[in-house]
Amino acid sequence: MRAVELFCGAGGMSLGLQRAGVDIIQAYDAWSPAVETYRHNLGHHVSQRDLKDIFEMGPLIADLSPDLICGGPPCQDYSVAGKRIEGENAGLTKTFAMLVCIARPEWFVMENVPQAARSDAWQNARAMLVKAGYGLSECKLDASWYGVAQKRKRLFVIGRLGEQHGFLTSALTAARTKTQTVINDVLEIAEGYVYSRPFRAARGVRSVYEPFPTVTRTCWERLTERYLSNPHPNDPVPVTEAAVLTTQQLAQLQGFPENWQWRGATRQDIHQMIANAVPSPLAESIGRVILERHNAQTIPLVQGRFVQFLMKKGRSYQSARNVKSQLNRARRLLGGRTFTSLELQLATLESVEQFIALSIRTKSDLRAALRNHWDYQKMQQKQTKPEKIPLVLLRAA
Ligand SMILES: C[S@@+](CC[C@H](N)C(=O)[O-])C[C@H]1O[C@@H](n2cnc3c(N)ncnc32)[C@H](O)[C@@H]1O
Repeated sequence: MRAVELFCGAGGMSLGLQRAGVDIIQAYDAWSPAVETYRHNLGHHVSQRDLKDIFEMGPLIADLSPDLICGGPPCQDYSVAGKRIEGENAGLTKTFAMLVCIARPEWFVMENVPQAARSDAWQNARAMLVKAGYGLSECKLDASWYGVAQKRKRLFVIGRLGEQHGFLTSALTAARTKTQTVINDVLEIAEGYVYSRPFRAARGVRSVYEPFPTVTRTCWERLTERYLSNPHPNDPVPVTEAAVLTTQQLAQLQGFPENWQWRGATRQDIHQMIANAVPSPLAESIGRVILERHNAQTIPLVQGRFVQFLMKKGRSYQSARNVKSQLNRARRLLGGRTFTSLELQLATLESVEQFIALSIRTKSDLRAALRNHWDYQKMQQKQTKPEKIPLVLLRAA
């Protein structure tokens, strides 16, 4: 799978996607320390460009014919002073969507802060992407369930041309690790406890058997007199007994390897690049989920009360379970694709060699299973707002 990354920063997302097996053929960012760092560590396929220049960048990216466009447009100003006034950076989410619509890759992945889901910028961007034919899976993922020792929640929107909304959600859920990753899995901290500059009156001290809070650009700041004189009552040990993480340790918590070299940057810039990054293990998990579906190795799980729906229509429990199995079989034959119409599902099925080879009876059962499930989805849609795409917070089962 050939990918182009927009707003690539120092390369956290690229690193993870590459590890999953995605070939990043080109990356763009406007900020020279990020571009230099990316180039030094990941290669020369990065260019310093202003992506707002859509007239120039659109055709350039379209010419590359990527299978996937990924990126995390900047997110600092989704909410200015708590009001719904969106700044210039929020507009770059629309820039991302426009560039996707121009190049029309089969897949895209967009990362952002969870608040972006409610922003006008994302509503506009989403409308464009849906109109362009993308089915969307919108999920808030907690990185600590994807191999990252950090309780970092981020919005991920994964789009694929011609899919139904929510087509990848069950695969993303299935990709979670059985247990959360904790600081001790990634770093050796002799003190057993770490300090992190607290945000919104949260705890300052964490055990190494917990995930770290979200890495931000101020995490490295030393202990303040203010905190020392008024520590959080739930700190597990006195804050003076906790280690303060170094820049390199924070980078490791974000999934950058120990030998990662930062280029052309002040310490402040380095902390900004670290905090900006999509942690590479999370990007790697997402990359794997995408590649598996792309290669028809997974199918979407049948969600909701499909079996009960069939039983209400007069089937026995066993017969309803059989229909569900037949639906899964049809979905495997469709390579995990969901398609936006029943006609497309059926027509595609008829063209699959393994389907053609089946008995008349089995073929008819598989067609019926798709029809039944389509009716079930229609019934469900009547009960929800038509343009509302479910936003799933994926956490531990
Ligand atoms: C959230 S960071 C992306 C981090 C990256 N996904 C990673 O994993 O390391 C957003 C990036 O967008 C870049 N950026 C901001 N405005 C831009 C523009 N107009 N054109 C290109 N890049 C821009 C910033 O320099 C920053 O590196």
